[in-house]
Amino acid sequence: MELRGVDELMDLLSGCRGVRTPGDPVDLHEHALQTAALLRRGRPADKELQIAGLVHELGRVLRPGDRPAHPDLAAHAVRPLLGDRVFRLVRLHGLARLHGAGGTPVEAAGPLAEDALTLRQAHDAAHVPGLDAGVLDDWRTLLELCAARHSRLGAVD
Ligand SMILES: [Fe+2]
Repeated sequence: MELRGVDELMDLLSGCRGVRTPGDPVDLHEHALQTAALLRRGRPADKELQIAGLVHELGRVLRPGDRPAHPDLAAHAVRPLLGDRVFRLVRLHGLARLHGAGGTPVEAAGPLAEDALTLRQAHDAAHVPGLDAGVLDDWRTLLELCAARHSRLGAVD
């Protein structure tokens, strides 16, 4: 499944409301907002990393129940809209999760390895009940800018 535009992406992110992981005190929507907010604080200049944080769990709503596949699903869904770097960061957050910091797959990711670990660390920290991480609409303009730069949708051959 590939996203066709920012509105569709926003709808999916909204659809994360109320989706809960056993043992996680926040739902998937709040987790996404907190991940993105932590990255905005820690890496304010890296908008694509922040966006990767916002969308990294979308696979969980694209195919509920298939948790091992979710990083790949999310990555492929956003690639046509948000570009290769967001694609690779989202994909790598899964490898970082599976293999841990410093594991071979992350090292093999080369220049993106550090960014992927930063994403993973934000993911790990983004489970705080009651933390004010803003609202989804705060991200719309940035998503539209990223899509305007990277989207291959609608391109004329
Ligand atoms: Fe996450």
